[in-house]
Amino acid sequence: MKKVKEAILKLKKAKNAIILAHYYQEPDIQEIADYVGDSLGLSQEAVKANADIILFAGVHFMAETAKILNPNKKVILPDLAAGCSLAESCPPEIFKKFIDAHPDHIVITYVNCSAEIKAMSHLVCTSSNAVKIVSSVPKNIPIIFAPDKNLGRYIEQETGRKMVLWDGSCVVHEAFSLDKLIALHKKHPNAKIIAHPESEAHILETAAYIGSTSGMIAFVKTNPAEEFIVATEAGILYKMQQEVPDKLLIPAPAQENNTCACSECGFMKMNTLQKVYDCLLNETPEIIVSKKIRTKALLPIERMLELSH
Ligand code: 13P
Ligand code: SF4
Repeated sequence: MKKVKEAILKLKKAKNAIILAHYYQEPDIQEIADYVGDSLGLSQEAVKANADIILFAGVHFMAETAKILNPNKKVILPDLAAGCSLAESCPPEIFKKFIDAHPDHIVITYVNCSAEIKAMSHLVCTSSNAVKIVSSVPKNIPIIFAPDKNLGRYIEQETGRKMVLWDGSCVVHEAFSLDKLIALHKKHPNAKIIAHPESEAHILETAAYIGSTSGMIAFVKTNPAEEFIVATEAGILYKMQQEVPDKLLIPAPAQENNTCACSECGFMKMNTLQKVYDCLLNETPEIIVSKKIRTKALLPIERMLELSH
């Protein structure tokens, strides 16, 4: 493992490459990354990237967003099959019909979608700026929100605004079990429950804090509580524990999963240290976005970045 890590760091330097990694990546990958963050932070970092190659250790839509923001850089992803159930839940042809059926609506899409979907959107958002982005639209303009219905419902609650929601969801965040969570909380009555807004409403109702992966890490750092039950993908616990070494972090339990007490995103975990090495060595698989789609998808992403300052 140590040898592979050293080889990656050497290659990275020789090729003037940077590695951007999401918090859900395995610890070994997070350790060799130049930046580890949430979707918004990763997009902002991609804009600043002063490199010839961006190796994106995350899922496809994240690498695609980095490519849209950096058309002249080579963007590579260790495993092209690293998708996302939310992105998959929103096929472009069907989404186009959905938009056509709701004329006069502003289309806001969660960044967890394909470049084709972004190209049909007026605004893009991430979990850390979703409420702000939706609130930026004048109240008299109706909104379509896609693809995550759970995040959509959460925004509706926060803004008091009804939206037309696409029926998509994240398989990982929908797997949390309320019964098991309540039982776990009884065992740790002083623990604060924190949750990602992709979780279902009944999980969010139990949470003392709801936010993006970065938001959750910031919360455990600043909140005086000593114990937290964390309802998001278990990969976040690595960085979170480093930030609060003396606090107890307990992964929220998933349904029908008695072999493991936590939830893992199979897409995120497709990337391995060896695949990172091979990808950097061969500079493939490469993310390609057509100029036509890129030009259209760039606008709503740029609007989001502008509104996120
Ligand atoms: P964040 O932007 O909060 O890191 O979320 C990304 C994601 O895919 C959550 O499942
Ligand atoms: Fe997509 Fe869910 Fe995996 Fe995040 S955790 S990448 S939303 S499938």
